[in-house]
Amino acid sequence: MAKLTYSTDEILADHSYAKPHVEAGYTLHGGFDAGGKYISPRTLNRWPAINAWSEALKARGHALIDSSQQLMAHGSFPNVAQQSLLLDLGLGQTLWDSLSVTGVVEARGKMLATAEAPDFQPVVVEDISQTATGHLNKGLLRAHGLDEGGDGVLGGHDAMWFAVRDMLFGKQAYPHAEVPESLSKPDAGRLIPQLPPDHERWILLLMNVLMIEVRAENFFNFCTTVMRDPRNFRDRRDVAMHAADLVDRIRQDEAPHVGYLAVVISELRSFTFKTVDGKQIKGAAFIDPVWRGMVQWHSVTNVEWDRTERRKEFQQMFDKRGNGAELMRQFENLGQKEAA
Ligand SMILES: [Fe+2]
Ligand SMILES: [Fe+2]
Repeated sequence: MAKLTYSTDEILADHSYAKPHVEAGYTLHGGFDAGGKYISPRTLNRWPAINAWSEALKARGHALIDSSQQLMAHGSFPNVAQQSLLLDLGLGQTLWDSLSVTGVVEARGKMLATAEAPDFQPVVVEDISQTATGHLNKGLLRAHGLDEGGDGVLGGHDAMWFAVRDMLFGKQAYPHAEVPESLSKPDAGRLIPQLPPDHERWILLLMNVLMIEVRAENFFNFCTTVMRDPRNFRDRRDVAMHAADLVDRIRQDEAPHVGYLAVVISELRSFTFKTVDGKQIKGAAFIDPVWRGMVQWHSVTNVEWDRTERRKEFQQMFDKRGNGAELMRQFENLGQKEAA
């Protein structure tokens, strides 16, 4: 029987690395094994734990929710060909902005390192001590937050994205990007009145973070394809290839985030809850509609709104060059090709 109960120290434990992770003068989290393979931070026991909880859930007869790229209805915008056109035209700023915003948003994720979720045991009938949900405050949230924002000594994803950006464009190539206040689905009032407000708030927070991670994965694929395309960054191919490797390391670090969050949401579906008015209800009854709404907002509603806004931004950039209509036509053409 696989181990299902872990201490905080076990969840946070690192592998013993053969070589530290250093890039562009930054000492970063994670490290390398003797063969030079990158190993993500705090995954010595965290990955085996996530896998064990996931298997235990399935053994109890429950499915794991889909947290794959299948959830994303749209590809990236701009797409890879459109991004190449922008870079060709010397319009690298939107990519610079996206990399900056990603770095700032990752840094905000550090709040998870000190956040405390409410104890779910009082509202759940089953014993949750051997589940991922029962370990949120036993290292899972802490490990997640430290991965995103660093531990104060070793840099995390924020530092890694800024390193990627500076490698590709040079430090301070463009002015500071405007960073949106929140990437979460706007508050729509009580969605789970059966539970205390704090439990509802945390379920929504975990769902939002999971979808933000799924959307990030979409952006990672876009980034590495753009960087590895020999037509882009032609005067610094080595640097661009190396930056893509760094993005792949971040992607590898993100996988346990998607992993544990998907297990937690799936476990919540599987539990029997004690409602505030003294009844019992299956988690799936309220989790499923709320999760569907969350996926729809992140994968369609917000993506489409974002496309419209960014399209205006591109139009303005093209107009400034004097041949806006022609450039927009070329740009749209590249978009159609992908859709076909
Ligand atoms: Fe991250
Ligand atoms: Fe993450």
